[in-house]
Amino acid sequence: MQHFKSKKQMNLFDVYPLFPINIVKGKGCKVYDSEGTEYLDLYGGHAVVSVGHSHPKYVKAISDQVAKLGFYSNSVINALQVELAEKLGKASGYEDYFLFLINSGAEANENALKLASFHNGKKRIVSFKNSFHGRTFAAVNVTDTLKHVAPINEGRLDVTFLELNDIETVRKELKKEDVSSVIIEGVQGIGGIYTPDNRFMQELRAICTETNTVLILDEIQSGYGRSGKFFAHQYAGIKPDIITVAKGICNGFPMAGTIISPMFKAIHGQLGTTFGGNHLGCAGAIAVLEIMEEEQLIENAAKVGDFLISELKKFPGIKEIRGSGLMIGLEFEQPIKEIRSKLLFEQKVFTGVAGLHTIRLLPPLSLSMDEAEEFLVRFKKCL
Ligand SMILES: Cc1ncc(COP(=O)(O)O)c(C=O)c1O
Repeated sequence: MQHFKSKKQMNLFDVYPLFPINIVKGKGCKVYDSEGTEYLDLYGGHAVVSVGHSHPKYVKAISDQVAKLGFYSNSVINALQVELAEKLGKASGYEDYFLFLINSGAEANENALKLASFHNGKKRIVSFKNSFHGRTFAAVNVTDTLKHVAPINEGRLDVTFLELNDIETVRKELKKEDVSSVIIEGVQGIGGIYTPDNRFMQELRAICTETNTVLILDEIQSGYGRSGKFFAHQYAGIKPDIITVAKGICNGFPMAGTIISPMFKAIHGQLGTTFGGNHLGCAGAIAVLEIMEEEQLIENAAKVGDFLISELKKFPGIKEIRGSGLMIGLEFEQPIKEIRSKLLFEQKVFTGVAGLHTIRLLPPLSLSMDEAEEFLVRFKKCL
């Protein structure tokens, strides 16, 4: 199949380096291409597929809902949003927080940063080196990757990038009392699976409170069970003021959430969206939380992740293994292009990547022990 065609018709804007594989079907932790070839999915479509491809309960929830009502605007009561908030509060341990629904991770962070600034009237933001928070205006400004920042964005927000885990520098900046918010990933994903130390997170929490700085936890990749807890920051036993979620929330249907502490006051019209929180997405997201509970997928992510990490430690040639649950980074001394290519084309395994030297494993949270073992067998053949 030719992906980019002639000059006579509209072609796709070529921003993605594509594998020449046309995935047309998925079931659990397997995906299938148009030739019928089966692949083991250790990538989850970039940490998005949480409960497994085409889970019957999820398919039924979405199908039933679209047959009834796919969308109506945020100007009327949407009981599904209320049910989703209730279930999310319970599952995450944040029952006293509020939920604002949008469509993508970048939007979740955009709203979080804005809300923080509305709240304390301050402008400066502290972010961390190596971080990724999205591609919209504020989100890209707090992202530490120059290639995403266009001249119209550059320097338009007052952002200070600090070293992860360097609490003294953070303290020094926050003591100036002009910082509106600190934004930090639960685990740096695109940056290569780096987890902030628990102690750092605890001290960060305390300094933010002392200086009236809003603490925003970007759990877009590391949240929703992926780390082996509902949120990665829960390993540190802290509570941020705002948490952002996306990716796994609706198993691939575009949806995201900004989870907001009761210290914020909601003002009519201050935030808003056309599509966010639509009926179809809510039905899917409710099904995702129910499946996660029924099938104990967070416990599964912790168990299968521990197993993978301990087995991978026995493999030769891996420089460092980072992460927890089913968010694992495998750093190699040499560039990983060849290994990843062998994995995909010879062993039929999808994996993710971070930079030139790190493979990222981000499978559905339903990955079984048998599938994990199968991955290890196939991986070994590529080293
Ligand atoms: C930690 C983190 N934040 C934000 C985003 C942006 O999410 P989206 O692509 O849905 O806008 C991503 C996407 O990879 C992410 O990993």
